[in-house]
Amino acid sequence: MRGEPLKASRVSITVVVDNVIDIFLQDQHPIRYPRPGRCSSLLAEQGLSIWIEIEGPGRSGSCRILYDFGRGGPALRRNLEILEIDPRRADYLILSHGHIDHYGGLTGLLEDKSVCAPLVVHPRAFGSRAIRQPDGSMAGPWSIFQDEIESLMSQPLLPALSPRQIGSGVWISGFIPRSSTLDPLFSAAVRKEGDDWVADQFEDDLSIFIRLEKAGLVIITGCCHAGVINTLRAASTLFPGEPIFALIGGFHLNFVPSEAVKRIINEIDKHQPGLLVPLHCTGAAAQNLLRQHFKERCPYTTVGMNISVP
Ligand SMILES: [Fe+2]
Ligand SMILES: [Fe+2]
Repeated sequence: MRGEPLKASRVSITVVVDNVIDIFLQDQHPIRYPRPGRCSSLLAEQGLSIWIEIEGPGRSGSCRILYDFGRGGPALRRNLEILEIDPRRADYLILSHGHIDHYGGLTGLLEDKSVCAPLVVHPRAFGSRAIRQPDGSMAGPWSIFQDEIESLMSQPLLPALSPRQIGSGVWISGFIPRSSTLDPLFSAAVRKEGDDWVADQFEDDLSIFIRLEKAGLVIITGCCHAGVINTLRAASTLFPGEPIFALIGGFHLNFVPSEAVKRIINEIDKHQPGLLVPLHCTGAAAQNLLRQHFKERCPYTTVGMNISVP
């Protein structure tokens, strides 16, 4: 985006939908957790949605993003209301990839016509997907079709095939190159191509990179099917020499053997992230290993948590 400032001055990130809810966590700077009371009615769901507010420097404008939309149950709408987030304020809707636990709530959000922000998406996110089970059966299929989404939208889709700036210091990753041999393959995931089911290469996987003036880079991932290491490398390649302040989102390390997770953790550590917030598909076992290694730099996670960074 021509003329956008290079860096943002502040970001506030709120987890709207996630797999777990815990209202008994102690605040830990820069994290604020939901308190018992109104937030006791927040819902967890096997899905992800994150609300991001970015402030630009000086008099330049702010940018608000709803990144992913949960699985399609009641959690998205209810949690937005409890957390007092009005999705009509969004400047952008961004879909991380074409899995139902990320796009499930999108149709409902668009159908009430109150949310009219453009949707940033990789074109490969559209289509049908399924998961091969160990016994040979298939979970799914689940489908999201471009023409159906476009018919509900008042603005055109914004395709993100390569890195793209959308606001003050706010970038969409576009396709994330694969160079790491450590990142696990999600080989059970398949997508429909013509009449065939083929291995899903997740070309559509989009992360968000936010360049903060003081703190450094904040990286926000959906399921991170491109791989945590590949995503960190993509951010470092795009913004060489900038420190990584935070890595926040799903890391998709569930069912990955602990020895492989430990190798990934050692590689993450080389990037010296100041904060790790492993959500959603990271899985409890990998979250525990991350906490053992990064200690207070890897806080507990829950629906309703907020991370505010100047
Ligand atoms: Fe996924
Ligand atoms: Fe997911």
